[in-house]
Amino acid sequence: MSWIVRYLFALALSGTLVQSSNLPEVPPGVFNVSAQLELQTTTSAVWDALTNFPAYASWNPFVRAAIVVTPLNASLDEQYPVENRRLFLRTQTPPLPLPVNSDTPDNPLNTQLAYENITHVQPDLLRLAWAYAATPPDVLAGERWQAISDLGNGRVLYESREVFHGALAPTLRDLYGAGLQESFDAQAQGLKLLLEG
Ligand SMILES: *[C@@H]1O[C@H](CO)[C@@H](O)[C@H](O)[C@H]1NC(C)=O
Ligand SMILES: *[C@@H]1O[C@H](CO)[C@@H](O)[C@H](O)[C@H]1NC(C)=O
Ligand SMILES: *[C@@H]1O[C@H](CO)[C@@H](O)[C@H](O)[C@H]1NC(C)=O
Repeated sequence: MSWIVRYLFALALSGTLVQSSNLPEVPPGVFNVSAQLELQTTTSAVWDALTNFPAYASWNPFVRAAIVVTPLNASLDEQYPVENRRLFLRTQTPPLPLPVNSDTPDNPLNTQLAYENITHVQPDLLRLAWAYAATPPDVLAGERWQAISDLGNGRVLYESREVFHGALAPTLRDLYGAGLQESFDAQAQGLKLLLEG
């Protein structure tokens, strides 16, 4: 291979890598919602924001509270993601208008409470996931993945995606599919406001 061929090959390969997703491959479900947004920041700043549960209310228009709890729903001292722990979420679907801060009140008509299992905390791969755990999986299941990739030149790709399964998933899609999509997009925009100032 001449140097020019090798150079073009490397260029093509780096282009592919830059555009590839850091979300894992998962089986298809009934429907999914996802968001992706490029941010001018560092991967560690995004990781810190996503794992700092107590600070969610100050920027997140979708997840207004994320509390690590015992199986009996008592709040734990360690409020950061740990695999196999339970997570209580209070969310807004559709989302609150941006910007939000910790004093922004919920819209009670759009408030949902959810219990999740924290399934993956992967600081080396820059991925996090939790799975809906309030119903048996054949009734409703969904694992929400978030992933970060370094695009170089001070740019970072933030991605989130949840694929829903189970007998209630078509109903969830009809009632909340559009609102959930708005909420995923709004969380990405909230992160951008937080990290780009
Ligand atoms: C998400 O849904 C779209 C169609 O709406 C589909 O093309 C895509 O394969 C789905 N992704 C996953 C991971 O299920
Ligand atoms: C679980 O804990 C959260 C946060 O402390 C609380 O808001 C929620 O009402 C509790 N759920 C139940 C069923 O007690
Ligand atoms: C959540 O965790 C509990 C106990 O660790 C387990 O019994 C349950 O199947 C899990 N649910 C999901 C949806 O992963």
